[in-house]
Amino acid sequence: MASSTGYALGYADAEKQRLVRQAVRFEPILEAFLRDAGIREGDRVLDVGAGLGDVSLVLARPVTDRGAVLGLERDAASIETARARAATIGVRNVTFIHGDIGAFESDERFDGVVGRFILVFPPEPVAVIRKLAALLRPGGVIAFQEPLREATQAINAHLPLQHACGVRLRDAFARARADTEIGGKLYALFQAAGLPAPQLRCDAPIDGSDQMAWYAYELLMSVMRGTGDRDERAQLGELESLPRRLSDEMKAAKSSCAGPVLIGAWTQVP
Ligand SMILES: C[S@@+](CC[C@H](N)C(=O)[O-])C[C@H]1O[C@@H](n2cnc3c(N)ncnc32)[C@H](O)[C@@H]1O
Repeated sequence: MASSTGYALGYADAEKQRLVRQAVRFEPILEAFLRDAGIREGDRVLDVGAGLGDVSLVLARPVTDRGAVLGLERDAASIETARARAATIGVRNVTFIHGDIGAFESDERFDGVVGRFILVFPPEPVAVIRKLAALLRPGGVIAFQEPLREATQAINAHLPLQHACGVRLRDAFARARADTEIGGKLYALFQAAGLPAPQLRCDAPIDGSDQMAWYAYELLMSVMRGTGDRDERAQLGELESLPRRLSDEMKAAKSSCAGPVLIGAWTQVP
């Protein structure tokens, strides 16, 4: 696990490609979440931990050219990729900047601050929420979409191999001190940061496609990359055939498979 990079999954090209594939699957869920949170035309929105730009590029649509999105990301290479993606698809209302959430300051008061898969990582998420809320104008929206890993495990419990991948994932994230149950804590965390109780929604991508069956496998490969934890890998059998075995398991059960359950939480600052 590449925790020395500051991001538990590292910044390898394979991880970047995985994040983009994942983002396409999660787009409808993200759009619905942003709509519920009240992001609208003309808003100026800060996207924290923008990564390869997937949240920023979706935000660009509701805010329209009358608004703007600022994507803040601490990995310079990811920003280059995000900028290139925005240029390729002709998005002009998104700007990506290099920086750390902890050190970020701005004279501007934003209409919205949004983050996805971000509060999993910091040791003090309440401090992060408090700091970001202070960047909003009165009535501005703070919104996070974060995972609830064990809920995904419950949905996929009838698929033993899929479930075993989830257990390995849970253990690997726990070793990196990443809190994959943070989605279930958002309601309390917002209030601990001095904010009004948030509104919530719960979503999960789910279907019977190979891509969904492979989701946990691909995430697991990213988590394990470089560490070569042989004991953990051995418990899943031969890795090369794992995607096929996951697909076969799902099809034999005539079942669908769920990706991560995501909790969306948002509130307006007074
Ligand atoms: C799992 S990725 C999610 C990317 C994006 N939000 C998405 O959903 O596609 C987490 C990203 O947050 C960035 N990140 C984590 N902590 C950060 C911090 N304190 N300041 C800036 N970026 C941060 C990481 O570098 C990484 O690119």
